[in-house]
Formats: sequence, structure tokens, C-alpha cells
Amino acid sequence: MTGPAHRSVTVRVPAKVNCELRVGPRRRDGFHDLSTVFMAVGLHDEVTVSRAAHWRVEVTGLYAHLVPTDEANLALRAAKLLARHTRAARPASLIRIDKDIPVAGGMAGGSADAAATLLACDHLWGLRLDRSVLAEIAAQVGSDVPFALAGGIAVGSGRGDRLAPVLARGSFHWVFAVSDVGLSTPEVYAECDRLRGSDRIPTPEPGTAMMAALRSGDAEALAEVLHNDLQEPAFSLRPELRTVLDAGLEFGALGGIVSGSGPTVAFLTRSTEHALDLCVALTASGVASEVKRAKGPVHGAQVVAGPSRD
Ligand code: C5P
Repeated sequence: MTGPAHRSVTVRVPAKVNCELRVGPRRRDGFHDLSTVFMAVGLHDEVTVSRAAHWRVEVTGLYAHLVPTDEANLALRAAKLLARHTRAARPASLIRIDKDIPVAGGMAGGSADAAATLLACDHLWGLRLDRSVLAEIAAQVGSDVPFALAGGIAVGSGRGDRLAPVLARGSFHWVFAVSDVGLSTPEVYAECDRLRGSDRIPTPEPGTAMMAALRSGDAEALAEVLHNDLQEPAFSLRPELRTVLDAGLEFGALGGIVSGSGPTVAFLTRSTEHALDLCVALTASGVASEVKRAKGPVHGAQVVAGPSRD
């Protein structure tokens, strides 16, 4: 299925949760060195890119009204960067994003859309770049974009963009308490710096207990070692998130954590049934504006319609 007859390509891309997020000191460039363990989870956006006379972004789905369609849109920035990098002829495209991943929720929704767009454009424009080249371009778009391409479970270092795959067994059942008001990632990092003051912050390194828990496939072991240095800063900016976390734990979650820079709170459960029970309890309590369920790990960005070699 290749050739110019294909006018559009659709890519499905997952959200992520950070099972571990260790934040180092602020760097000169404003970023922070991280040691993080990403897991791709089964909440997906779908991005369809088609050739068009002018660049345009359209967003549908539950959170469409929260997504910018101008130059601030990460997917548009990614497509234009790829076009410049490859000197693609007449690259102008219509980028349609169907969202199911919470916006500004700490689940890398915008990064996922950017990753999906890179892969879709790569196929639509007939570039067929090596995944490692796409990953380099992805890293220029945002710290979480390379992981959305890769999926699975990976340790992220540097800004979170340098990835090493992690061996893991089985599948984990997550429940996500979604907030209808997002948190700004730069503000959460800034709050992290403010709370730390002049404390000496060591270089972040992955925890060995985390690697062992992932290898064991044991959800209870994983629940015990969930760790996020951005959790306290997120609580500091949004105190009610602590109530959400406490509620999930009280309703029987094995463990819980703020996802990335928040405000989504992620809970680990034992099974599909356990996850369903937790969803019902959280929904009934009214602590979260929306509750979602997903398994992880899942694959990274994949072409689902249009020219594909995968
Ligand atoms: O790379 P990305 O665009 O996702 O980062 C958004 C913001 O999050 C950055 O501008 C920075 O303020 C903060 N950040 C950071 N250190 C990282 C990743 C992100 O300080 N490793």
C-alpha cells in the first residue's frame, strides 16, 4: 500500500504515565535532567494527515476545545520541523487530531500528537526515515515526543528524551482520575525549584527497586515503588489533588501517583475488575471530573491507515 494514490495517513498514538520521575537540578537552558520510567498506556489519540493547499489543524474529541490550532500546536510544529529538515516538496498538510488523551494532564497528549504527526508525515510524504532519525527530530519538538514514538516501557534520561528500553513482564491495570483544568508543565517545574530552594539536588538515577518490580510483573510491587518528584509541586499548586489521591487509595487502589506534571492522578489496580470497581467508586465520590481506565504497556505510535511498511 504505497504510492501517490494515498492522500492521507492515520496514526494511533498512546498516552504515557511516569512510574518514576526523578528531577535533577535546573540546568542553564532552563530544563532539568531527569531519570524517568515511562510506560505507554492504552489511551489513544488518532492523527490523520492529508495533503492540503495550506497548513491547517482540526481537533475533534472530548477535549478539542482545549487544544490550540495555531502555531502553538505541537503537531503543527512537528510537521513543519520535519518538512524543513527533509526539504519536503509542497509539504502543506491538514492535520486532524481526534483526542482521547487528557489535555495538559501530565499524560503527554500534545507530545503524542506531535509524534503521531511525524510518523504520518513520514509516510504521507514518502520519506520513510529511520526511526532513530524521527526520534532525533521528535526530541527537538519536546522532551516526551521520542517516547510517544517508541512506546512500551523505557527509562528516559537527559530531558527525558534519551531512551533505553526496559524489560518488563505482563500488563498493568491503571485508573486515571482526570481533572478538567490542566496544569502547566513549566509552572510545575518552577514550583519544584521554588520548593527546593537552595537544597543540593543530586544527579537523578533510576531506582533498582523499580526495575525489579517491572521485571516481576507484580502490580503490588510496582505500586510500592511509584515515585514522582513533581507530585509535591503539583499538590502545592493544586491542593485538591491530594484529596483525589487519598480517595483512590481509600477506595482500594494498590498505589497512586500524580502523572508527570499532573493534574491527572494515576492509580494501579490488580485486575480489570478491580479497575472497574475503582472507576465506579471514584466517579460516585465526585472527586474527579472524569475517570478513565487503561492497560499498559502498549505499543508506541503506529500507522493504522494509509501507506505503511509496518
Ligand atoms: O520539552 P517540553 O516542551 O515538554 O517541556 C515543557 C517545559 O517543561 C519546558 O519548557 C521546561 O520548563 C519543563 N521541563 C523541564 N525539564 C525537562 C522537561 C521539561 O524543566 N526535562
